[in-house]
Amino acid sequence: MKNLLAPSTLEFTHTKNPAALAEMERAEILADPGFGKHFTDHMVDICWSARGGWHRPRVQPYGPIALDPAAAVLHYAQEIFEGLKAYRHPDGSIQSFRPEANARRMQRSAVRLALPELPTEYFIASLRALIAADADWVPDAPETSLYIRPFMFAKEAFLGVRPAEKVNYYVIASPAGAYFPGGVTPVSIWLSTDYSRAGRGGMGAAKTGGNYAASLVAQAEAYDQGCAQVLFLDSEEGRYIEELGGMNVVLVKKDGTLVTPESSSILEGITLDSILQLAQDRGHAVERRRVSIDEWKDGVASGDITEVFACGTAAVVTPIALLKGRDFSVGDADAPAGELTMSLRQELTDIQYGRVADRHHWLTRLDA
Ligand code: PLP
Ligand code: COI
Repeated sequence: MKNLLAPSTLEFTHTKNPAALAEMERAEILADPGFGKHFTDHMVDICWSARGGWHRPRVQPYGPIALDPAAAVLHYAQEIFEGLKAYRHPDGSIQSFRPEANARRMQRSAVRLALPELPTEYFIASLRALIAADADWVPDAPETSLYIRPFMFAKEAFLGVRPAEKVNYYVIASPAGAYFPGGVTPVSIWLSTDYSRAGRGGMGAAKTGGNYAASLVAQAEAYDQGCAQVLFLDSEEGRYIEELGGMNVVLVKKDGTLVTPESSSILEGITLDSILQLAQDRGHAVERRRVSIDEWKDGVASGDITEVFACGTAAVVTPIALLKGRDFSVGDADAPAGELTMSLRQELTDIQYGRVADRHHWLTRLDA
């Protein structure tokens, strides 16, 4: 969609939060942030209208958003979001990992949800604007970060079903430790056969709330089964693996080949793309293709598949020890984390946290 503002006119107004947390309270949160429970003092807000394009970029105190009860998002779920992290480097600088890729993915999600595309420069500027206000919220303890959640939704009060003509884009942020309570220990996964996450021509490749809503009942089933995440199959044949509720999945074969599902209904993960690149740099073969659930089951049983892991911004790289379904299980819940899994995780986080050279130029500084 047309954007009526030139990037150079994107100047944020800043309103300081008079109720910002005191340093000691903030330090207490940063010492044990968990995931998605605490939020920084400020948020970004940019308006869009069909007539005026993107306008009124603001940094304001974090707080409730006033919504008309007829706001289209509350009825028709016209919403998209992103997730990326800001990392504190040893030199004190604050860096993010491939944010342009998140900006582009948000544009693709916007096209699918008939929302306006936020230009990449605005996306990056919005991250910098929030960090300018909340830099002190980026933790520096090992393996902690500031999880940044940009999102956009239909704000127009109108019950007719059509793309909204008033939309708002926001950015909030939340200090983060490990996504799974157990830290980086291998997890068990539940195979959902009753529910699909997305179908052909649907929204599976978009990062939109509806996909997560579709996953929740299956995710609840997973918890009931003692599993940390749910694995979805393709919706047509129920034969090919797609992804987890909030992560991509990779199988490692005995010969070192990494295999990941290819499908038009899964989210194109930036962590996945990066991990596969790092593996290729080491000489591993990488296959992006359809992968049947039988290939996983049989491969683990025969020893042809030696490791399986999940990856995503929140989960980073998490080993999968066991796959459990209604009438089977493969793997061993107590199995140790795979060697390649953990060494790729280490290499990725070394780059993200500035412990090794950023040879692919994946980092973007946010605090300068
Ligand atoms: N798949 C789903 C459904 C997700 O929610 C995520 C997390 O964002 C991913 C995959 C991994 O994407 P990324 O690595 O870009 O965070
Ligand atoms: C992310 O990793 O950014 C996600 O959105 C996934 C969700 C499980 C938090």
